[in-house]
Amino acid sequence: MEKEKLFFNKLVEIIHESTGLDCKQYNELYIKRRINSRILANNLKQHDYFGYIKLLENSLYEIRELFNALTINVTKFFRDITFWETLKKDVIQRMIKEKTDNKNKSIYLWSCGCSSGEEAYSIAILLREALKDTQIRARIIATDIDEVSLKKAEAGIYDSHSLCDVSNDYILKYFHNINAKDKQLYEIDKSLRPMITFQRHNFLSENPPGDNFDAIFCRNVIIYFKPNVKDGVINLFHSSLVHHGWLMVGKAEMLFIKHLKEKFYLYNDIERIYRRERRVVPRGIKHPERRQNWWFGYDVGSNKKN
Ligand SMILES: C[S@@+](CC[C@H](N)C(=O)[O-])C[C@H]1O[C@@H](n2cnc3c(N)ncnc32)[C@H](O)[C@@H]1O
Repeated sequence: MEKEKLFFNKLVEIIHESTGLDCKQYNELYIKRRINSRILANNLKQHDYFGYIKLLENSLYEIRELFNALTINVTKFFRDITFWETLKKDVIQRMIKEKTDNKNKSIYLWSCGCSSGEEAYSIAILLREALKDTQIRARIIATDIDEVSLKKAEAGIYDSHSLCDVSNDYILKYFHNINAKDKQLYEIDKSLRPMITFQRHNFLSENPPGDNFDAIFCRNVIIYFKPNVKDGVINLFHSSLVHHGWLMVGKAEMLFIKHLKEKFYLYNDIERIYRRERRVVPRGIKHPERRQNWWFGYDVGSNKKN
């Protein structure tokens, strides 16, 4: 048992040195499950960390496979469709109204843990549609620790499974069918590319790729982190956002994160959409808790001013 722990720790060091991924920051059970899936795939006995280290020493291929198993980069366009509907019909409309009121003509967003880019392109499509009759321009920085996923994002070519939640309208407008031998492939319309910068970035060890973001999307990423690491990440997002900036996290992630409640206002509890800072209670409102939907003078869910 002692030896097993020793070899596991050695393996964690090797992974850090060879890939930059610091497993100590992730939930240990999760890391062990993912490593053991690779150990079994190589016909070794479960928990044979020593045997697996030997194997890794001679196989760049296996290092890559292990990294893939640890980072889990599954994603697709408009993943969790109700979230994107809320974004389109409510959040983006509100963003545009607030930008217009403030005579501000740019929107700056961060897709953090963007995997192969589907999330960033989904944001770009909704913004392109919503901003077409305005002077406002949007810029997205999309980052991930995994360079192979980022290369795919830059190429912008996807199979039909990635597009299964994209409306026909958007497919016709923003995707081009590519003739491939055995499967249907789609290339993202090149007009969307200048809106997005893809960049390799480890948000656990590097400074944020910018500041004063209007919105940060970090969906289905921090779920794998240890609780104290999650708290640190939430602090990082807080300081990278403008006042009242938006934070979108995956549906499964929340509630447990202490700082989220302290530093962010829950804007939409079903879709786990937050805004920076707790609500500010203006003078004259004695019992704000009776006005559950109050947020900076707007009635949540409508464009009506209180
Ligand atoms: C499941 S995907 C989520 C993709 C997309 N956000 C979505 O919701 O569909 C998780 C991504 O987080 C990335 N990731 C994990 N740890 C990271 C870190 N420390 N820094 C940057 N990206 C990380 C992984 O490489 C992977 O591509």
